[in-house]
Amino acid sequence: MCGIVGYIGGQQAYPILIEGLSKLEYRGYDSAGVALLCEDHLEMVKSVGRLRALEEKVGATDLVGTIGIGHTRWATHGRPCDENAHPHSDCTNEFVVIHNGIIENYQSLREWLQSEGHTFRSETDTEVLAHLIEHFYEGDLKEAVRLVIDKVKGSYGMVAMSRYEPDRLICARKDSPLVIGLGEGENFIASDIPALLKYTRQTFILNDGELADVTRDSVIIENGNGVPIDKEIIHIEWDVLAAEKDGYEHFMLKEIHEQPKAIRDTLRSRITADGLVNLDEVKLTAEQTKNLLKVVMVACGTAYHAGLVGKYVFEKLLRLPVEVDVASEFRYRDPLLGEDTLVVVISQSGETADTLAALRLAKEKGSPVVAVTNVVGSTVSREADQVIYTWAGPEIAVASTKAYTTQLIVLYLLALHLGQLMEAIPNEEVVLLTQELTQLPSHVDQILRQANELTEFTSRLSQWEDTFFIGRGLDYAVALEGSLKLKEISYIHAEAYAAGELKHGTLALITENIPVIALATQPQLYEKMWSNIKEVKARDAYVLAIVMEGDRETGKEVDAVITIPATIPLLSPVLSVIPLQLLSYYAAVQRGCDVDKPRNLAKSVTVE
Ligand code: M6R
Repeated sequence: MCGIVGYIGGQQAYPILIEGLSKLEYRGYDSAGVALLCEDHLEMVKSVGRLRALEEKVGATDLVGTIGIGHTRWATHGRPCDENAHPHSDCTNEFVVIHNGIIENYQSLREWLQSEGHTFRSETDTEVLAHLIEHFYEGDLKEAVRLVIDKVKGSYGMVAMSRYEPDRLICARKDSPLVIGLGEGENFIASDIPALLKYTRQTFILNDGELADVTRDSVIIENGNGVPIDKEIIHIEWDVLAAEKDGYEHFMLKEIHEQPKAIRDTLRSRITADGLVNLDEVKLTAEQTKNLLKVVMVACGTAYHAGLVGKYVFEKLLRLPVEVDVASEFRYRDPLLGEDTLVVVISQSGETADTLAALRLAKEKGSPVVAVTNVVGSTVSREADQVIYTWAGPEIAVASTKAYTTQLIVLYLLALHLGQLMEAIPNEEVVLLTQELTQLPSHVDQILRQANELTEFTSRLSQWEDTFFIGRGLDYAVALEGSLKLKEISYIHAEAYAAGELKHGTLALITENIPVIALATQPQLYEKMWSNIKEVKARDAYVLAIVMEGDRETGKEVDAVITIPATIPLLSPVLSVIPLQLLSYYAAVQRGCDVDKPRNLAKSVTVE
């Protein structure tokens, strides 16, 4: 995700900006830039690639000044390149802005500003902020920024600087963090605490809707109505490493907890005011979709498991046959493809070699290809015909968590979008589903708050070398993901079984006290699941059931229960996977495993 740093004081700003940005590198980025007020003009240097590339570029210039802003960008709107890197400036280069978040109405604002004579240099949503400041500026940067934030929809952590007012930086926040570091005769701004710790531990943490006017000697924070706020100074105790993880012990745990936001961001601006789905990025026409005979989903690992959920969802909603394939198999099985087969490739990184090969094969055979990926500018995103991004932000832990849940969200949206085009789903049903989709972030939040309920089961689990995950239908697809997660980071051998298959061999492995995790969130399959739970209980397994609120029966059959909030059963995978992620995480911690970097695995698998 993008990183923000700002400095105003008596020291040279450039080294402080670079130092701060380097402390945010762990967040992932594809380009970087700085802007400084050098005597009477603004100087800006931007470069695609790592910070070193920016430093090499700056090397040739003379960036001398004691006020400046810097940014590392993780591309969202527009590919990674020099022009799209932040800061962005207005037509006259008198105002510069850095921004984290997404301006949802940037397209209409851009068109309006262009009609007013503004010229744009980048493909980003952020650039509208600089031009809007230019438009509204009447001698007070803070007031201009206030008018800008009244005009924009979406999320922002932003810092603005102007040549006209060389003694202030103005920041504003909504749904994207900003922290102000307090010094003596100097102040700092950052999106994340690690960037500040070398200089100060005294901070103001901005809340949503707040705006800060930062000078060398003062920080004035106002609420949304322009009323100054008396803010408490927060002293940061964390060390740098803990700060990078936002205080969490591992990136995986941080990313598990980021899921409500990641889901919200992925849904953002894709559901219209009347509750329908609008996926602008999918260019298939109604006629093309009506001619589709099948859908093929191709991916690896966790992304493949998302595809398995996708199969149930697409088949249920669209009544269209769906095949799901592991990419390394797909490419060698001479698959039946053509223009009547929609191929959906799913890849968090967008660089997985097998998935990429599958994408190329599908294109070669004339199938339209939609990619679901988390990384703008990745090879998959560049080569697919159409791309739908998961807005999960960079995933650093090798074990995929927020990428999986946001992939599910995109697959629900895609199914509904196609359903609308094909006229396969009545609008009322779409509205019902989108209403429930928007409730998922708070449901996930609720599950995260119950994490301590897993403690006892985790202690048992972490002492075993084998375990089983069972489920039916969508629950089976989630069981596969739960089992992969556990194996991957705790090294406990886990098998996921379609619960009805147990009696075809697996029951032989169910022994006294062996932990079994039974997912039972699909009401139409409850009775079948109860029989399967009885089968393992009869062999003295220790069963943890994941059930949905309202189910009073399943819990009676088992040793421990985790209840997820009630939702439409088709959406339950987004919720039922959360306790499984937590379970794997805590088991791995108890076993002393290197959670974020499990043995023998890499985050991005770019070889066959
Ligand atoms: O980047 P991708 O989504 O293409 O990666 C696919 C798999 O390598 C990945 O999901 C892997 O299975 C995860 N580490 C599982 O947590």
